Amino acid sequence: MSAGLLLAEHEAAPAGPAPGQAVPRWDDAAILTPLFQDDLIARERDGVLRLYEALTRDRPLFRDANGSWVVSSFEQGCAVLSDPAYVAQPPLPAEEAAVYAPILATMLLRDGDAHAALRRHFAPLFKTQRMDRLHAFMDQDIASCVAALPASAFDAGASLAHHLPARMACVLMGLAPEHAPRLVALTAPVLRLISGTPLPPASMLALLQASRVAIQALATLMARQAPATLHYLDIDPHALATHALSDGTEHASCASNLCLLFVAAYTTSMLSLGNTLALATQRPGLWTQMAQEPSRIPRTVAELGRLAPAAQALQRYAAHDLTLGDVPLRAGEPVVVMVAAANRDPRAFEHPDEVDLGRHARTLTFGAGPHGCVGVGLARRQLGGLLAALTSRYPRLAPLARPSRGLQVGTFLGYDRLWLGVPAESAKAPAPVRQPNA
Ligand code: HEM
Repeated sequence: MSAGLLLAEHEAAPAGPAPGQAVPRWDDAAILTPLFQDDLIARERDGVLRLYEALTRDRPLFRDANGSWVVSSFEQGCAVLSDPAYVAQPPLPAEEAAVYAPILATMLLRDGDAHAALRRHFAPLFKTQRMDRLHAFMDQDIASCVAALPASAFDAGASLAHHLPARMACVLMGLAPEHAPRLVALTAPVLRLISGTPLPPASMLALLQASRVAIQALATLMARQAPATLHYLDIDPHALATHALSDGTEHASCASNLCLLFVAAYTTSMLSLGNTLALATQRPGLWTQMAQEPSRIPRTVAELGRLAPAAQALQRYAAHDLTLGDVPLRAGEPVVVMVAAANRDPRAFEHPDEVDLGRHARTLTFGAGPHGCVGVGLARRQLGGLLAALTSRYPRLAPLARPSRGLQVGTFLGYDRLWLGVPAESAKAPAPVRQPNA
């Protein structure tokens, strides 16, 4: 996930790319704004993959017109994300930092000891006993969602991706799953704010205001409906609801981080679910292989996550003057790690566009280093569980001609609508064939 506050702040908000507008070339001066401003990646997936390929090959370290260093090499991407000399918090002047306080208080944008303390504070949410209960809920939820699907065709976006992750996120927080639709709508501005969408300052401020409403609403709801979870995390429910927006207080920090946890848990999982199902049904033979040998599913989930990561890019800032490769960076300069490009770096992954279940290489899909994803186990469990349930009910499944629709929010990429169906000649027809970059 990428904060992108500086990227957003420094852009003058040019109009978004017109429909059909070409993907920028790697040697264009500005690639970040067209890529993350609108829905260019969602509309032009293949074209953007070619841009990523060219970047990785020809310009693995590139300075964008907005001043960001764009890293597309896997090795340098790992190095940036793992090195505490690259921080997540944008270097804002004090008065702006005060304005953005609720978002800057999230673990996503803290660094050093304060960041480590936040991760420790929320770690009990992921303890084995709680996870066992959550896994049982997820398995049951997946089973009933899949059982309710029509026999021959369904929209995996509307019937699966938009429900399962948000309901999982509610239960993780100790809330009833029925709260999911309202919380997704409420927290949409938080997602936009952390998405790295280049926006003018006025839009950022409007999002911030709406995010404050979301943080307060979630804190109030949790105080009423999930006091046991809060006590378990050593958070006083009444103080949480009362001080959710009292910037600088410990309870305000807790409220911001609970909100971030909800958004982080459901968004990337929802997007990954669409990306994974799309690739799993497009690649020749992959779906039937999983149906026949479910033990392949965990490796397939990891490989498809490498090829189509929900977070296409992650942003950091040089904490002090330093050298990246042989390029000197000044303190505060932004660095954008192009996860989706680095994950296909041929120097790290042989035949990078192919699905190869024999790989055990690490990827940047869940980040790396101090900010690496806290929910990776949960996310993989849900994706694997869903693939197992779907391949069992539909031993053959293919993309349908009905229009699917990509979904992009800044650096986040997935599907809003994804139509899948049982091929007509199910018993005999070969699995659908697409080009490797599909
Ligand atoms: C397939 C689903 C998921 C993907 C692809 C994903 C991806 C990521 C990535 C790339 C990061 C690193 C952000 C950065 O370095 O700036 C991250 C961080 C994070 N993720 Fe996930 N994530 C997923 C699911 C989840 C789930 C289920 C949860 C919660 C239960 C979660 C909670 C978080 C949190 C709280 C952070 C911030 C960690 C920190 O800043 O220290 N994620 N995730």
